[in-house]
Amino acid sequence: MNADGLRSLVAAAMAAPSVHNVQPARWRIDGEALILLEDTARRLTVGDPRGNDAAISLGAAAEGAAIAASAAGLATRVERLDGEAAGGLRPVARLTFVPSAEPDPLLAVLKARASWRGPFLPPSPQDLAAAQALLGEDRVVVCDPVAIAAAAALYDRASYAIILGDGFRAELRHWMRLSPRHPDWARDGLNAAAMQLSAIEALGAGAVLGPLFRPLAALGVAPALLAEAKGFGNAAAVVLFHRAADENPFDSGRAFHRLWLEVDATGLGGNVLAALADDPAAAAAICAAHGIGVDRRLVTALRIGRRDGRPFPRARLPLAEVLLD
Ligand SMILES: Cc1cc2nc3c(=O)[nH]c(=O)nc-3n(C[C@H](O)[C@H](O)[C@H](O)COP(=O)(O)O)c2cc1C
Repeated sequence: MNADGLRSLVAAAMAAPSVHNVQPARWRIDGEALILLEDTARRLTVGDPRGNDAAISLGAAAEGAAIAASAAGLATRVERLDGEAAGGLRPVARLTFVPSAEPDPLLAVLKARASWRGPFLPPSPQDLAAAQALLGEDRVVVCDPVAIAAAAALYDRASYAIILGDGFRAELRHWMRLSPRHPDWARDGLNAAAMQLSAIEALGAGAVLGPLFRPLAALGVAPALLAEAKGFGNAAAVVLFHRAADENPFDSGRAFHRLWLEVDATGLGGNVLAALADDPAAAAAICAAHGIGVDRRLVTALRIGRRDGRPFPRARLPLAEVLLD
């Protein structure tokens, strides 16, 4: 594949999900191959000290490039690299391309997939059937409303336990863009449109996660203010995504991106419930409740349903910053 072709693969890979939308993936063209690097300055030092979420995000980016390559009739070989970081860039993988037959069926939704954090419409029987059809050996699809409500309660508890950390909240706020006047609104992080917050709600969220958090927590009202139970109303399902306990998170990230694209391909949308996987007690409880064995690791969970609202532009860095010389 020539340089223009490789550039278009990188552009397509930029649609991949990444934790807090930090977009850690950087790319270099190396002859007919692509080198994937991690921009280590984008690491979440508090929220992701071991780089697990960064690795998932990088795997998702690699999978995005591989899916895009299938449009040109190419199969992708992804070889993980294990080099030392130099100049803030850590080599992650080398992607090489060989002729193959079929375009990937997920190609159609690669660029359009997006987190949906807004409300859902009540699920139709077809929506529920589409959600159930996602069932597979690495995912449990929870459609029972009582079990979804239990997952919502567990999620809110786990999420609050994580948000209690002063450092976590500071880091989260650093990546939040609460006003379109923020210089990075359209570039990266979590903007108010992506979080489905009105201008007033965005102001409130900034205050609740910032200066008001401690007083509100002391009054015991912070958990209710931060609860997302409403977001679970009308959800068609909660999808529990689990992989072999010893799998490298980069490979889990590749599979996770495919699962999310499968969700969008059904016409449903969703968002990630990372706290269910990141809080060990919550992960153990939900795995036990849904028969996920101890040889498996809950990578993450998705809340999915029929979107009730309009799409919005996604924040992404320009290609020139992501594709290095
Ligand atoms: C490892 C990982 C963890 C994530 N955790 C959360 C989360 O806890 N809550 C959430 O709403 N989105 C979460 N996301 C989704 C990202 O915020 C989202 O992919 C990013 O903002 C880019 O937006 P997009 O999905 O619309 O392209 C996560 C994504 C990844 C890859």
